[in-house]
Amino acid sequence: MSDSKRHLLGLRGVQAEDIKILLETAEALMDVSSRDVKRLPALRGKTVINLFLENSTRTRISFEIAAKRLSADSINISAGGSSLSKGETLADTARNLHAMSPDAIVVRHPSAGAAKLLADIVDCPIVNAGDGWNEHPTQALLDILTIAQHKPSIEGLVVTIVGDILHSRVARSNIYGLLTLGAKLRLAGPPTLLPPEFASLGAEIHYDIPSAVAGADVIMMLRIQRERQGKNYFPSLDEYAHYYCLTEDVLADAKSDVIILHPGPMNRGIEVSSGVADGPYSVMMNQVSNGVAMRMAVLYQLIVPGADGIRGSEIPEPSLPSAAGGQVL
Ligand code: NCD
Repeated sequence: MSDSKRHLLGLRGVQAEDIKILLETAEALMDVSSRDVKRLPALRGKTVINLFLENSTRTRISFEIAAKRLSADSINISAGGSSLSKGETLADTARNLHAMSPDAIVVRHPSAGAAKLLADIVDCPIVNAGDGWNEHPTQALLDILTIAQHKPSIEGLVVTIVGDILHSRVARSNIYGLLTLGAKLRLAGPPTLLPPEFASLGAEIHYDIPSAVAGADVIMMLRIQRERQGKNYFPSLDEYAHYYCLTEDVLADAKSDVIILHPGPMNRGIEVSSGVADGPYSVMMNQVSNGVAMRMAVLYQLIVPGADGIRGSEIPEPSLPSAAGGQVL
């Protein structure tokens, strides 16, 4: 039943050509959001269910707006308002949603593997909007779109990702997508949050921020995922900020045209200083705007009959170290 061409479960295994098609589609759809009438008929009569079983501001609203700008009916379900709080399993919830004939289900869930589970049960397209520590493909795609808008080519760019790499689905999806497009990746963070196994993917490992930032074209800062950490990975947030917060001083060694990304939500003064977050190198609000266009592109490619689809996003088993306390359903 599961046809990987019709899902977006992760960026692991997705070919460069398919990422490029999504980038082009998002660019083509970008101007809809600045029109007087912000709506195209592409998904008229289609139904998109947003099943958000973990907190979200940007991603949930972005998917809802994206579906509406393509004229789909979008329906939102959250954990508190669903029968999951009455003990129903995710599989049974999915079967019941599927019986109402949606054209796509967008799912966010605290467990790694949740999107794949849904894809194995229902036969409409599944879009992973973040499954535990595993993957968050649309976030990485909008990050890549933002980078592509500011740099001539992704190939050969030095991209530094700093923070809680171990628990970050944003990091995993960006690692897969950016390496597929030929970027040079540096990962930085405390050794407890950055196991050396990540080097096997072809990324450089840095345990200090100055060496990771020196000469970088792009810096992506990540939030400490305290909700996924079962134990203390560093002595205190103050200590973490002392060593890993991106400040103007640290930034001085990056390239003069460096851009700074953060997926949000951001903890000012812990992973990024306010001066950097609001400064001239920050493209964080571009990321948010691009998120709508990229999610329109993903829904378009997966739902419209005859569109290109997305191949290879099957997620067999996570190959990277799994975060402590995380699980694959
Ligand atoms: C991220 C997420 O939920 O994975 N945020 C987002 O989707 N914009 C990152 C995070 O929560 O730190």
